[in-house]
Amino acid sequence: MAEYVGAIDQGTSSSRFIIFDTDGNIVQVGQREHRQIHPRAGWVEHDPHEIRTRVREVIADALGKSDVRPREVKAIGITNQRETTVLWDRRTGEAVYNAIVWQDTRTSQIVAELAGDKGPDRLRKICGLPLSTYFSGPKAKWILDNVDGVRERAEAGDILFGTMDTYTIWNLTGGPNGGVHVTDVTNASRTMLMDLRTLDWSEESLSLMGLPREMLPAIRSSSEVYGEVQGTVLDGVPVAGVLGDQQAALFGQACFEPGTAKNTYGTGSFLLVNTGNEPVASEKLLTTVGYKIGDQDAVYALEGSIAVTGAGVQWLRDQLGIIRSAPESERLAASVEDTGDVYFVPAFSGLFAPYWRDDARGVLVGMTAFTNKAHITRAVLESVAWQSREVVDAANEASGAPFKELKVDGGMVSNELLMQFQADVLGVPTIRPKVSETTALGAAYAAGIAVGVWSGTDDVTRNWGEDKRWEPSEPKEEIEKRYARWKEAVQRTLGWVKD
Ligand code: G3P
Repeated sequence: MAEYVGAIDQGTSSSRFIIFDTDGNIVQVGQREHRQIHPRAGWVEHDPHEIRTRVREVIADALGKSDVRPREVKAIGITNQRETTVLWDRRTGEAVYNAIVWQDTRTSQIVAELAGDKGPDRLRKICGLPLSTYFSGPKAKWILDNVDGVRERAEAGDILFGTMDTYTIWNLTGGPNGGVHVTDVTNASRTMLMDLRTLDWSEESLSLMGLPREMLPAIRSSSEVYGEVQGTVLDGVPVAGVLGDQQAALFGQACFEPGTAKNTYGTGSFLLVNTGNEPVASEKLLTTVGYKIGDQDAVYALEGSIAVTGAGVQWLRDQLGIIRSAPESERLAASVEDTGDVYFVPAFSGLFAPYWRDDARGVLVGMTAFTNKAHITRAVLESVAWQSREVVDAANEASGAPFKELKVDGGMVSNELLMQFQADVLGVPTIRPKVSETTALGAAYAAGIAVGVWSGTDDVTRNWGEDKRWEPSEPKEEIEKRYARWKEAVQRTLGWVKD
């Protein structure tokens, strides 16, 4: 009998179910989007009940379109948009508020108060993260502080907290009353609530944020059986892998050796470098858990999170109307030789790594009457590569061992102009794998390893194949000159927001 492994990718804009064969090839995909809810400027919410429904629909959809029989699916892995936070009633499953999305900045006041005199790095030693609106802990605190009666219910043990992995598993593994309440080490490492060394919830973080421990899920490894699916066509199939989406891509890209790195180009970009079994501290990047297979030691990573990369191209399309589709950005940018000394810094909601500045806002600088939409489009694409360069510099500084190549994935890797420019800017090759759905693939591998479909990471490495590589081709001197200009442009974004 053929064997397959499925992966649910519960992302920021859609949920997908992808079925993989044992060689790691895609057999079928089901995908549905969900609404982006913006109640106020800077607020971003998702309706968790809608997502719960979408997840069931995409499973049925992918299976319905393929010849795969449910009993041939040996395990399911889950990967997800990280940090996005939902609180729900443990008896009814009803969410007490919409999910607050990772991009949402409503907690800026809470974050400033928590930082107090001790500053934004006061929890870094414990959780590897600066206090920021990005992470889950302050989002959970906001719900407890602002939604009537929820704090009392949470203290009475009636409310459950989860990131989207936890919410998805709870709903998939239970009847109407829910199933297992778990998360994995990678998702937990994005809450600000987990101690990176003990891999357990930190009393110090919890008490600073005033969050009751009873509402938190159990923290488990990224590859083990958590429970079985109930109430879908896949009844009885074990859920056996969980990784936050960026860690899943690291896994799916077979970055198992210290110093190996990947960059995923989506709405934002997330560059992760494997640092082995020890968490490496950095003032500019996030220290995070990369993955943990069963009872093996955890593997850590340094992460540079960039909030706006692909979203910059969407902005050209949806807000400015300069292009009609994302692929058009490559053609238009290629129609000019350079940006004409124009730089674009997309600090739309502040800057994440390596600056971590909420008070930054976007700039387009250096325009003359000669500047046209092709130059601006090119500057938007180049901003993706420059931002990644800043993260790579910070990673090299922290780890002390410059990496030699960058594996790339995500929607923007079809943009060859950008991939070439990225290689030029970094001075190392960029490499695109054959299977570009590395996020879902990573979660499938984690699940398949737990149930014995694959024996371990060696199988992942064996299945990984290179599709295309771009070698650096521009003179280093010229690149460094332009990089200095980019940094000048960044300085112009800082401090734009005055309270
Ligand atoms: O940290 C946020 C990240 O996990 C979101 O990823 O691909 O859903 O936008 P994505």
